[in-house]
Amino acid sequence: MRYSTLVSFPKDFFWGGSTSAYQVEGAWNEDGKGPSVIDMRASYPEGTTDFKVASDHYHRYKEDVKMFAEMGLKAYRFSIAWTRIIPDGDGEINQKGIEFYHSLIDELRRYDIEPIVTMYHFDLPHALQVKGGWSNRGTVDAFERYAEVLFKEYGQKVNYWLTINEQNMMILHGSALGTLDPNLENPKKELYQQNHHMLVAQAKAMTLCHQMLPEAKIGPAPNIALIYPASPKPEDVLAAANYNAIRNWLYLDMAVFGRYNNLAWAYMKEKDILPVIEEGDMDILKSAKPDFIAFNYYTSQTVEASKGDGNDEFARGGDQHLKSGEDGVYKGGNNPFLSKNAFGWEIDPVGFRSTMREIYDRYQLPLIITENGLGAFDKLEEDGSIQDDYRIDYLEKHIEQIKWAITDGVEVFGYCPWSAIDLISTHQGCSKRYGFIYVNRDEFDLKDLKRIRKKSSYWYETLIQQNGDNIGK
Ligand code: BG6
Repeated sequence: MRYSTLVSFPKDFFWGGSTSAYQVEGAWNEDGKGPSVIDMRASYPEGTTDFKVASDHYHRYKEDVKMFAEMGLKAYRFSIAWTRIIPDGDGEINQKGIEFYHSLIDELRRYDIEPIVTMYHFDLPHALQVKGGWSNRGTVDAFERYAEVLFKEYGQKVNYWLTINEQNMMILHGSALGTLDPNLENPKKELYQQNHHMLVAQAKAMTLCHQMLPEAKIGPAPNIALIYPASPKPEDVLAAANYNAIRNWLYLDMAVFGRYNNLAWAYMKEKDILPVIEEGDMDILKSAKPDFIAFNYYTSQTVEASKGDGNDEFARGGDQHLKSGEDGVYKGGNNPFLSKNAFGWEIDPVGFRSTMREIYDRYQLPLIITENGLGAFDKLEEDGSIQDDYRIDYLEKHIEQIKWAITDGVEVFGYCPWSAIDLISTHQGCSKRYGFIYVNRDEFDLKDLKRIRKKSSYWYETLIQQNGDNIGK
């Protein structure tokens, strides 16, 4: 639908920025922090750094928060490293870890920046992984206890909680993220059991949050992107519905309605990967209610009917870690109408609007975008500037689509692009930069880790001052 005028962004809109602990903090083994599955990864893709120092935010958070304030950020979405709080996942509490996040949150509050806290962003404690990770039902209890510690410690300072970042990507692309246990004998079956356990853990955390902190709000944070059929061919449309169910609705139907999506269930049954559901699980899942939906969006995907000829899998942008497509379910493919970024990810701002409309139509809950952004090889110019006009272009087009979605009647209360500051990509090193703020380091040369605001950060600052009024005109 076209409109003669677009509705303005709400006055108290959360213009933010986003990061995750292991990708930005560094200090991987300091002040009592235990190792996570990410720290214990056996190897990293060739030519890419590990996460030991990252952007050294752990030591430089004051300087970073000051820069966020200069940019005018209204919100900062970050994650807490479970292994700083409880180094082995379910044992002793580490006071120094607790203090770090108190200091970070206090610093944000000093500048009136709303902390939006992800409880778990890919970095499961290694000690829990050794005991079976999410395959072990005990991890559900460990997560509930961890949640209780977080709510007790930070509940008076944090109003917005996100449970688990991109649970769907951990299930679908765990090998790229470093979250997949390489020792699993029957990965797919195990993964859907893990998925069930994570869904129960999330439900328990949401219920606990409401019991302990009646004023606080909590929601899931999957990666949601509408799947297109490659053509109007009915079989392609069915394939897109299959993948939408497996990739997107499985996670949100459960978080919001407390039931398994029927197509996703039929898929798991057919593949013989149905999870074991313990007595009482469905009651736990049904009684938990999110207050909002947070989601991450980078790109859309296009699929067609499975050919079943062994060639259904498609490597997005040639990235073997991000393959999708499955015999008898759907075949992955390209969308000829979209351009691509330097890493082969399709750029689709209009798909972003469609995704917001679809989520809101299905669930009728307020939305916040907790990740969206452009990975690029930024260049530090001789004059010390970073001219990332391509990022401005990407963000502007996506923000405009939020405005269209708001005009469509979708309730959106915040936008936290990835990333507030440069950090380490999940599997493509630190040369794939996303930040508004440049961090002066290379893959293997830490240099001085100096912070430099990129051109996009000044552009975002102006946009925030105008509350997005200049967008879409
Ligand atoms: C999301 C994750 O999947 O995408 C982030 O939540 C990640 O952790 C981001 O960094 C961008 O992906 P990548 O692979 O380019 O780092």
